[in-house]
Amino acid sequence: MTYKGLTILLAGLVIAGGAYFAWTVLSGGPKADAEDIEVTMYRGPDCDCCVDWADYLEDQGMTVIDEKVADLPTIKQEKGVPGAFQSCHTAVVGDYIVEGHVPSDEIRRMVAQQPDAIGIAVPGMPAGSPGMEVGHTESYEVLLFNQESYSVFAEY
Ligand code: CU
Ligand code: CU
Repeated sequence: MTYKGLTILLAGLVIAGGAYFAWTVLSGGPKADAEDIEVTMYRGPDCDCCVDWADYLEDQGMTVIDEKVADLPTIKQEKGVPGAFQSCHTAVVGDYIVEGHVPSDEIRRMVAQQPDAIGIAVPGMPAGSPGMEVGHTESYEVLLFNQESYSVFAEY
C-alpha cells in the first residue's frame, strides 16, 4: 500500500469512528431501552410454561436469567407477592417484582413509569397470556400491587 492509500484509509476510519460516536451520543447508542431490561426469573425446576415465558421475553429483546429454585413459596413471600396474586414464577426487574405471565409491554411500561409499587402480577396462569398459548384465550388483568392495595395496570 502507498502512503497516500494509507492516509486515505486512516482518514476514512476517523470519519467512520466520528460518525459512530455522534450516532451513539445522539441516538442513545446501539442498545435500545428494551434490550437493557434484565429479568431474573425464579421458578420450579420442572416448569415448562415458565421457560416459554422466558423465551417470549427474550424474543421481545429482554435478557432473562433463569433461576431454578426448590422453595419458590419462600421467595414469593420474601419478595412481597400477595398470596392471592401468585402464579408459577416470580421475577425481579430492577427494584420491581413481576409475578406470572406478564406481557413484555407492561414490564417496559412499569420500568419507564417507575410507579410506587412492589410490582405487577398476572395471577394464576390465564390461557393466552405470554407463555400460556394453549389454543384458546381468556381475558385477564395485569395488577399493580403493594403490600396492602392494588390497582388494575392493564387489561387483556
Ligand atoms: Cu406458568
Ligand atoms: Cu412460570
